[in-house]
Amino acid sequence: MSFKQALKNNLPAPLFHFLRDVPSKAKGLFETKPSGQGPIPPLHLMFDGPRSYEHFINMGNETLEFYKTAVGVKPADSILDIGCGIGRKTIPLLDYLNPEALYVGLDIDRRGIDWLLRNVTSENRRFVFLHLDIYNKFYNPKGALLSSRLVLPFPDASFDIVALWSVFTHMFPRDIAHYLSEISRVLKPGGRVVASYYLLNDEILALMQDSKTDVNFAYQLENCRTTNPNMPEDALAVNDAWLRRVYEDLRLQPEQFLYGGWSKHTPYPGTDTINLQDIVIAQKK
Ligand SMILES: C[S@@+](CC[C@H](N)C(=O)[O-])C[C@H]1O[C@@H](n2cnc3c(N)ncnc32)[C@H](O)[C@@H]1O
Repeated sequence: MSFKQALKNNLPAPLFHFLRDVPSKAKGLFETKPSGQGPIPPLHLMFDGPRSYEHFINMGNETLEFYKTAVGVKPADSILDIGCGIGRKTIPLLDYLNPEALYVGLDIDRRGIDWLLRNVTSENRRFVFLHLDIYNKFYNPKGALLSSRLVLPFPDASFDIVALWSVFTHMFPRDIAHYLSEISRVLKPGGRVVASYYLLNDEILALMQDSKTDVNFAYQLENCRTTNPNMPEDALAVNDAWLRRVYEDLRLQPEQFLYGGWSKHTPYPGTDTINLQDIVIAQKK
């Protein structure tokens, strides 16, 4: 187990986050932000993934290509990005989406939303961001609301695309099912949901038992597995067959299950960082 994982497995989330911020605050004093690449947050605010300018830019560009080629995102689409973090996958859309489009980013961590409102919405009025104070033991341990009670604050059939990148990998199955029911409601017929997961099936469990996967979901919980019994939301994996049934029941037709690099599958071309996790693309019937 890495030192970082050992800290996560033993410390309360706020203390872990505080300690994790220290090196990136120091690094930020010496590294110059790249210019000409759109807004880029300071390293210590990259709480939602690797703290590196290069990674931030590459991951955004990779996602934009994937949106265009695999998900079929069009320049005039309305997009809801649930768990948008600090906007790693938002910035490249600034040039791609046209003035007819709408992009809404939601997150439960206020730091990212505040930064995005100040640095993105101020210049791009079609990009808006909302903070929802939802509890997550890892990301928002003082949150007042429960995921299982979320009502997305939008009318039925509002969006062409709903995206959740590395969000369901931090949520329990019952909450995922509830989010998917809300997503199905706000999607237009023919619209698509793209979401990443850690999926378990017999083949992947066998690989994991032989220590051949990059992530070891060693702890069994109710209907899911985690890497971290202290803070299960650190990383959660769900059952593949269960998820397929949830999609079917909600009239979300899975079009692609792209198993990821974490379980030694070959990623979708050009998506080495985002398709480390498994990606499911489904269409609202
Ligand atoms: C690993 S980060 C990914 C951020 C971003 N989607 C990306 O791929 O760069 C996970 C994000 O999910 C958010 N999150 C966790 N639980 C959530 C929930 N129940 N509802 C919405 N967002 C949530 C966290 O605050 C965090 O920003």
